[in-house]
Amino acid sequence: MWYDIWVMEKTFQIAIDGPVAAGKGTTAKMVAARLGYLYVDTGAMYRCLALYTKQNNIEFSDEQKIAKLLEESSPKVELSIPSETEKDGRLCTVKLNGEDVSWQIRTEEISSGVSVITQYSGVRDYITPLAREIGKTQNVVMEGREITTVVLPDADLKIYMDADPKERAMRRHRELMSRGEDVTYQAVYDQLVERDKRDSERTIAPLKKAKNAWILDTTGMTIDQVAQVIVAKVEEMK
Ligand code: DC
Repeated sequence: MWYDIWVMEKTFQIAIDGPVAAGKGTTAKMVAARLGYLYVDTGAMYRCLALYTKQNNIEFSDEQKIAKLLEESSPKVELSIPSETEKDGRLCTVKLNGEDVSWQIRTEEISSGVSVITQYSGVRDYITPLAREIGKTQNVVMEGREITTVVLPDADLKIYMDADPKERAMRRHRELMSRGEDVTYQAVYDQLVERDKRDSERTIAPLKKAKNAWILDTTGMTIDQVAQVIVAKVEEMK
């Protein structure tokens, strides 16, 4: 008698955590492209839920209403590699209930709102299984705040990416200005410090260094240099 045995090949997971503008997104995308892996921006998934909250006229501070909204309507959050027609500087294409919201989720209002709602267990319990499932089925470079500690604690390579706060604020300010947002460096710096504090002091899934994470300080490094050292490390591991 013949038996067919399917063995699901274990995926290679690269998990990256770190504070705002440490370079996670652009680097992760570049590393993913060089290795042929999928880039997963979990921050974008949470941003979708902040946008969804706003679309439903619910205050970001209303934890119960947000939990009920997610439970009752289960919004669809999808990430994909930008197609030829979508290549407009975005790192990935983000869809909320089928609508392309890749840029709508990047405003300062959503940035502020998302750092409030990510403190809620109903919000985290909605995204964590989605992200974990993606990592099980494909080789990924996944970035966020608790990927190395909660979502993929057994990832093959765990990285904590950091940079000097002034340099991070400068990078973020430059990015916002290039998108035409009228905001001062000081305002960006203050908001970044505030968001870092909220992300690392929250009781649920705070941003912290995983025990065996590789600490990568990107101060003074170009994105290309950071991507190169990560790809070299992966090649060394294989
Ligand atoms: O990386 P980002 O700026 O797009 O993240 C948006 C917000 O979501 C930020 O306040 C941190 C939070 N976040 C989180 O709590 N967990 C993640 N895995 C990703 C982002």
